[in-house]
Amino acid sequence: MGYRVVVAGATGNVGREMLNILAERQFPVDEIAVLASRKSLGTEVSFGDKTLKTKDLATFDFSGWDMALFAIGSDATKEYAPKAAKAGCVVIDNSSLYRYDPEVPLIVPEVNADAIEGYSKKNIIANPNCSTAQMVVALKPLHDRARIKRVVVSTYQSVSGSGKEGIDELWDQTKSIYNPVDDKPAKKFTKQIAFNVIPHIDVFMEDGSTKEEWKMVVETKKIVDPSIKVTATCVRVPVFVGHAESINIEFEDHLDEAEARDILREAPGVMVVDKREDGGYVTPIECVGDFATFISRIRQDSTIDNGINLWCVSDNLRKGAALNAVQIAELLGNRVLKKG
Ligand SMILES: NC(=O)c1ccc[n+]([C@@H]2O[C@H](COP(=O)([O-])OP(=O)(O)OC[C@H]3O[C@@H](n4cnc5c(N)ncnc54)[C@H](OP(=O)(O)O)[C@@H]3O)[C@@H](O)[C@H]2O)c1
Repeated sequence: MGYRVVVAGATGNVGREMLNILAERQFPVDEIAVLASRKSLGTEVSFGDKTLKTKDLATFDFSGWDMALFAIGSDATKEYAPKAAKAGCVVIDNSSLYRYDPEVPLIVPEVNADAIEGYSKKNIIANPNCSTAQMVVALKPLHDRARIKRVVVSTYQSVSGSGKEGIDELWDQTKSIYNPVDDKPAKKFTKQIAFNVIPHIDVFMEDGSTKEEWKMVVETKKIVDPSIKVTATCVRVPVFVGHAESINIEFEDHLDEAEARDILREAPGVMVVDKREDGGYVTPIECVGDFATFISRIRQDSTIDNGINLWCVSDNLRKGAALNAVQIAELLGNRVLKKG
């Protein structure tokens, strides 16, 4: 016996990837419903070798469904997640709406799987921000060994992190630069994204940081350890899929680079590719479609007592969103619902 699973936002980047991953990982599905907005009613999406037609989320009855993977943005989530949860269907949500709610667990299964026990307070589980998810997979095993004091991270985030419109804007703008009669001014992003980088993701906060940067700070504390200090600079780059991060970590205890490399090699969800030669590291384009978080350029930071630098790359639509959500669904199934 398997599960009755809903994917809400099935026409979006993350929703489509959720369907791919549920099929790839042979999640025990008895029945699946794919939902989107009314305007997409009947749109066909793929699930393994099947083609499914989307239904309207607004009129969907969640009663009798075991779990719903949501990837529809905060506004729609606010309206529909409580309805699903009330009907007894556990929501695994990709938006930021519930991430900071103390009654909702925020889970990266490789890091804090035990937090799943708290799901029943609201029948909702939150999935972290894409840039946080890949970073904490790398931080956790190092923290367990040498206690992280402080993290300084700069991100290089792909346009798919801002949805379908972000992908279209990079594509159209790149073409328009080669064909200047067809000008495509910035719309989704605040400045030209083609052949450029933009140090601004999400809205500005009072202290001058952006909300994306704030999310990395707060989510790392909730998922790994509230004592870890994080300072982040988040940058949008003209890459379609795959986020990269340059991470500097300061530890309480000494950790040399060889041991850090060995720890990361054994860590769940991590793949170390770190040859000190031309091309001996992973770039975003190479991580697309992969499950792993890739770590390269592991080296001592000689400017502080206990410091390590590394380069972290992952598919933001997978570990940063859809894969993590499916891993949470697996965890929920194995530990709580126990049907599959
Ligand atoms: N992309 C990432 O790397 C990433 C990472 C972590 C979290 N997330 C989060 O995941 C969510 C989806 O992101 P995305 O990149 O997949 O966006 P997207 O490509 O723009 O897709 C949005 C999806 O939500 C649906 N939707 C929007 N409003 C709706 C409504 N009122 N009722 C029903 N369906 C509605 C859309 O349906 P229609 O096609 O019918 O409009 C579409 O299926 C967002 O909350 C985002 O913050 C994304």
